[in-house]
Amino acid sequence: MSASIVGLSGSPAPVSRSRTLLGRALISLERQGAGPVRLIDLAQLSAYGLLGRRDDPGIADVLGAVQDAAIVVVSTPIYRATYSGLLKVFFDLLPQDALAGKVAIPIATGGGPAHLLAVDHGLRPLLASVGALVVATGVYGIDTQFRNGVPDAALLERIEHAALEAAALASEVTT
Ligand SMILES: Cc1cc2nc3c(=O)[nH]c(=O)nc-3n(C[C@H](O)[C@H](O)[C@H](O)COP(=O)(O)O)c2cc1C
Repeated sequence: MSASIVGLSGSPAPVSRSRTLLGRALISLERQGAGPVRLIDLAQLSAYGLLGRRDDPGIADVLGAVQDAAIVVVSTPIYRATYSGLLKVFFDLLPQDALAGKVAIPIATGGGPAHLLAVDHGLRPLLASVGALVVATGVYGIDTQFRNGVPDAALLERIEHAALEAAALASEVTT
């Protein structure tokens, strides 16, 4: 199955703050009529497939969905000052220029503010390395901005802003 907006969650955790933000971004994009959305939990994919040790239909399906997408939203927890290894192994499977002509939103959550710049110094170059047009507004949330799993108003506003930018940019790219 393919979708014009794909969300990739790079958290291995079954209950994930970064995935929650990803879900909110997809809802916002869907509400704006930017296209149908699909959220993909990379942790649900085969570990052998992710490591490239065997061909895997689940991985092929996700690579196809990414290829068909106009907007790719990527979320990750900050692990050891950068994006998760799970996200990295998936990106290592992407062909060169896999995101050329696609708009991307980078989203991360961390335990505290110290690694805020991982969005700009880690995620942004990762996305640019495969050709993505990354929106100006990156999203970084910290754990204390969540109450019972719900992001605070400032974080939701930032997500909304990033989604608006992505929808506008994607319509420029496709016209
Ligand atoms: C292995 C591991 C490494 C982490 N390293 C960092 C780090 O370097 N900087 C940071 O701010 N938070 C770090 N954290 C905290 C997570 O980034 C934070 O709790 C995040 O919100 C988890 O996202 P998730 O709920 O989507 O999995 C780490 C957590 C784990 C489990």
